[in-house]
Order: sequence, then C-alpha cells, then structure tokens
Amino acid sequence: MLVLGIESSCDDTAAAVWDDGTVRSNVVSSQADLHEDYGGVVPELASRNHQRLIVPVVQRALAEADTDAGALDAIAGTYGPGLPGSLLVGLSFAKAFAQGLDVPLIGVNHLEGHVHSVDLGPIPPDRPFLCLVVSGGHTELVHVGEPFQYEVLGRTRDDAAGEAFDKVAQLFGLGYPGGPDIDRHAESGDPAFHDFPRSRLDDFDFSFSGLKTSVLYYLRDRSDAERERLLDDHLDDLCASVQAAVVDVLVDGLRRAVAETGVEHVAVVGGVAANGALRRRVEALGRDEGGDVSVPSLAYCMDNAAMIAQAGAQRLAAGHTSPPTLDVQSSLQL
Ligand code: KG4
Ligand code: ZN
Repeated sequence: MLVLGIESSCDDTAAAVWDDGTVRSNVVSSQADLHEDYGGVVPELASRNHQRLIVPVVQRALAEADTDAGALDAIAGTYGPGLPGSLLVGLSFAKAFAQGLDVPLIGVNHLEGHVHSVDLGPIPPDRPFLCLVVSGGHTELVHVGEPFQYEVLGRTRDDAAGEAFDKVAQLFGLGYPGGPDIDRHAESGDPAFHDFPRSRLDDFDFSFSGLKTSVLYYLRDRSDAERERLLDDHLDDLCASVQAAVVDVLVDGLRRAVAETGVEHVAVVGGVAANGALRRRVEALGRDEGGDVSVPSLAYCMDNAAMIAQAGAQRLAAGHTSPPTLDVQSSLQL
C-alpha cells in the first residue's frame, strides 16, 4: 500500500511516500531561514510559503519515490494542532488530491504523527510505552496503550521544551531555531558551569518559563561589557548548563512516570528528541530500568511527513478515514 503523507502545521512543508512501512521518500522544505530574521515563525509568511512550496514538495516526494500520483492508495494529511493558515494549505491540498485521485483521505493529528515516528525504527516500541513528546510547540508525557488510545499523564504548564531552548538561544544571540545551536555549543561546554533552576512539579506536568526568566536575569544583572565577555568566553558552558537543566527536568519526569506506572518501555519523539544529551540520558534510563528505549532517527524527530503517513496508514488499516469536509483544528489535542 502506497500512502502519501503531507505535513504543513508550522514552518516546514513536507511530503513523504510510505510503502508498507518503508519510507520511499521524505522531503522537507524548511522555512527556518525565512523566519530567522524575526526570531520566530511569522504565521502569515509561513502560510504564504506553504502555498508556494506544497506542489513542488509533493512532486519531489513522488519523483524521489520513483512513483506517480496514480499509484497512490491513500493520502494522509495533518489537520491539527498548529498554525491555522499553515494547516489549511496542506490539508486543502490533501483533500483535493484525495478527491481527484478517488482515494481515501486520512486526517492525522500532528502529535499522533510524532508518537508514530518511533514505529519507523530503528527500534519500534512494544505497546504499552511511555512517550515523551518534546517539540517547539509541545511537551507532553503520554501513555500509549491500545492503538489510538492515549492518556496524557502530564504536559507543560507554560513554555514547551523546544520553545525554552529557542528563547534562551535568542538571549545568547544564537540563531533560530536555537535548539540545534545550543546542542552543538553544549558538546564542548561544562554543564556544571552554572546551576540554572529545575522546576519539579508534584504531578507529571512540566514548567520551563522559570528557566528562561532565570537566564534573562542572569544576563541582565551584568554590565554590557561583562555580558559580552561572559558570552565570548563561556557560551559553550552556558549552553551546556541550560541544556542540562532542561534534560534533567524531562528525564526526571520520565523516570517518575516509569516508577509510578510500571511501564518500562519509553520513547522520546519530536524535534527536541534530536538533542544529543537527551538521547544519551534516556538511553541510560532504559539501561537502568531494564526497558527498551525508542528514539527516532534524526530525520524523523523534526517535523516530517513520513510520520504522518505512518500514523495515517495505521488508522486506514483500522478502517478510519476522514470525510472531505474535514476542517483544520489548530488546538487539537491527543
Ligand atoms: O518537532 P519540531 O520540528 O516542530 C514542532 O512540532 O514544534 O520541533 C522543533 C523544535 C524547536 O524548538 C527546535 O529548537 C528543537 O525542536 N530542536 C532541538 C534540537 N533540534 C531541534 N532542541 C534541542 N536540541 C536539538 N538538537
Ligand atoms: Zn512537530
């Protein structure tokens, strides 16, 4: 079965061809350079660029998969959560394409797509598993049981983990999105250089706004010259210290959830799952707890359409399809 996945919920225009569990193409056109000047995603710019990119991106995905539209069995498209204007472009295209080709349409929840990204390998998890969804827009700890059954054990009360990285990176004068830059600088930094706060809430919720504020005050309480010298001499150490704080909070939440639920298999998905320190710590947690750890390969951490096709194909196999009247839901939850 050949499924075309389409994803446009934020600033990446993506299409992928999925062939019975094998990804034959996975095309992502990132608009990051475009939004970098503004320090974040500008919704109007994003939707305009999705309109420009969606057709060539789909064409490229079909060409790289060495197939054509007539061979497709179904179209899976993200319908939420995300930026309404961005979602609208990908979903409208998916609906029109499915109708024109007379094949089923499957609307996919972007977060369900991230959860299913681990099924693309290298180690697909056994169910049930605990899934930490960490991206620029979300930080959720989810119990994944029977197919399409999700119990959200906790989520962020303020900033998402990726958002915390992006905001701190901006304070450090790094580019957008800042997570990859912080990760790179942290590789040669000392995580014990400064003890930034780790918030630990009573339940499985997370909070990262205190960390961001603490970095803001840490820099603001210095003269311009002092701050400049600090960032010149210790940028790697500061990145490592901030990264350690974020990773500690995430891994602590995951460890407590393993202890409380007795579910040993864990997965970490979403853009922040690309973070080297987080991957290492979660793998160590798996060794300590004796459970399997699933982390997607880097290509499937960041927003992509292969994960949307994977989730859509599972839904189709279970008999789920969406009507042509399906609308975007920008605040959709799991
Ligand atoms: O999943 P994603 O591509 O988009 C959303 O659904 O939000 O995640 C993007 C987020 C950004 O905040 C970015 O800074 C973060 O993932 N990110 C990272 C790394 N790579 C991407 N954060 C930390 N370390 C990384 N290596
Ligand atoms: Zn995402």
